[in-house]
Amino acid sequence: MRLISLIPLAALLSVINGNPISRRAMVVLESVPAVPSGFTHAGTVSPSQEITLRIALVQTDIAGLQEKTYAVSDPANALYGQHLTPEEVAEYVKPTAETLSAVSEWLSENGITAKSVSPAGDLLQFSIPVSKAEALLATTFSSFTHVASGTTSIRTLSYSIPAVLKGHIQFVHPTIAFVPPPVGKPGVTAINHKREPRKVSRSSLTADAIPNSCASIVEPACLQDMYGFPTARANNSASNTLGVAGYIDQFANSEDLSLFLSNLRTNLVGSTFTLLTLDGGENVQVLSEAGDEADLDIEYTVGMAAGVPVTFISVGENFQDDVDGFIDIVNTILEEPAATRPTVLTTSYGFNEEDLPISLAVAMCDAYMQLGAVGISVIFASGDGGVGGVQPTTCTSFVPSAPGVCPFITSVGGSTGLPPQVAASLSGGGFSNYFPTPAFQAGDVATYIASIGDEYSGLYNVTGRGIPDVAAQAENVEIAWMGEFWLVGGTSCASPIFASMIALVNDRLIATGKPVLGYLNPFLYSPAGRAAFTDITSGTNPGCNTNGFSASVGWDPVTGLGTPNFDLLLAAVGL
Ligand SMILES: *[C@@H]1O[C@H](CO)[C@@H](O)[C@H](O)[C@H]1NC(C)=O
Ligand SMILES: *[C@@H]1O[C@H](CO)[C@@H](O)[C@H](O)[C@H]1NC(C)=O
Repeated sequence: MRLISLIPLAALLSVINGNPISRRAMVVLESVPAVPSGFTHAGTVSPSQEITLRIALVQTDIAGLQEKTYAVSDPANALYGQHLTPEEVAEYVKPTAETLSAVSEWLSENGITAKSVSPAGDLLQFSIPVSKAEALLATTFSSFTHVASGTTSIRTLSYSIPAVLKGHIQFVHPTIAFVPPPVGKPGVTAINHKREPRKVSRSSLTADAIPNSCASIVEPACLQDMYGFPTARANNSASNTLGVAGYIDQFANSEDLSLFLSNLRTNLVGSTFTLLTLDGGENVQVLSEAGDEADLDIEYTVGMAAGVPVTFISVGENFQDDVDGFIDIVNTILEEPAATRPTVLTTSYGFNEEDLPISLAVAMCDAYMQLGAVGISVIFASGDGGVGGVQPTTCTSFVPSAPGVCPFITSVGGSTGLPPQVAASLSGGGFSNYFPTPAFQAGDVATYIASIGDEYSGLYNVTGRGIPDVAAQAENVEIAWMGEFWLVGGTSCASPIFASMIALVNDRLIATGKPVLGYLNPFLYSPAGRAAFTDITSGTNPGCNTNGFSASVGWDPVTGLGTPNFDLLLAAVGL
């Protein structure tokens, strides 16, 4: 854990009144009805075992930040492009003095010294023995095992806080969150065949002559042909970094990147990536430890966003719950100097929405919104299980993937085949049960839902935020991994590809003195933005024992607005 501030909160205490908060009535803050499926009770926990808890404080004006983030991201608004500084964002998300003093008083009465782990001070952290945590939260912690992964964690089914602190504390974590490890795609199962290393030559290619080989083997040249990626290097690297998130010990290997470039992107030989680590993240460069996901993500950013500096952000596992890494990456980026802070962040890891407590899903979304507010385009893969979630699961109703359901994230689904492309059947898509349909896509969602009538009625939420927003290639993508060439599939391919195109558009914007795109969705769904996409009108995303949704004319919950075109995107931003 990166220490953001070490000010003991007790030092901030102004008032200690005569009626300790700890002795007042407690109220249940969060609970779950039973141990969630997939987890089993694994016994009691030693009272002396240390547990690290985080308290998410209620923020000063999160609604105000939402409004401001939309304003600076909507091309129709006079404030468009006037991104906030992290300091301006912090004014909205810091806790009020009243909240800080009430919570500090409670912790201090209990002899707890917390430190802030977010720049705005809205997230506190401390380590205490389990026995003390049980007294603090009027609960009993136990050990639970996630059966599929074998990982154990200390959790409870319900916890309480003093009633007077309701309205000051959003939640305490990890308590009632039973979250399976995030899924990074592609899994090894998605690697469908191994290839010999090969040289690609495309000298005689014309724009309308996309080789048939692109139907079965997709390499950078195919993406240049299909989506109009420029081949020339970007020139405005100084303030335009593309961030690639890496989780679950997925290491991006430099040797694999070199092999990839020297075979498939020869004009970029020598391009590499820089590293940013947090939560104990590492940069293991042993070839046998190269991550398939990490290599894919790095090869299709360094190899597509020609000339744009790429930072691999390796998130370690020094936390109590995987979800913490998704919030810590935001706080780490907000603390980066403006010059090296990414302008685009791509993530090919996610969770099934239903596996996150709504409190955490909302906190994650509010965190990613902060990145949008400062001018960072936050891009996530939409999942590989069709309507069934991040990966195929057994399910009784459709499972959208998080955190892409957050309206401040751009969710990228999958497409495949020669143009006109069709939906990749693995493409995650559907409707959130946590986030309502945002205004920018309300018309699209209503039109789509009306078009399918009562098909799948009850299996998805008709008032939810729809994903994905856009789509890109997600099958038969060629990568170098552990010194050999492979074809991989998944929206894990689509997210870095789309992110690279946005980074290249940012490069052109910077060249003309314009602000970078930042939070994308209001622009993408604007009349100019949507005109830059090739609509995908065929294919489905089966899952949950159904055929899934169908791609159709206009936005759909399989491929969103469609696949991007670089020149049309330039036109859409007025270049
Ligand atoms: C960068 O500069 C070179 C040389 O002036 C030029 O050929 C290339 O097109 C430029 N790249 C972009 C993306 O404008
Ligand atoms: C459907 O979505 C809405 C809006 O986000 C939410 O309030 C509601 O609880 C959801 N319904 C179900 C059954 O989850």
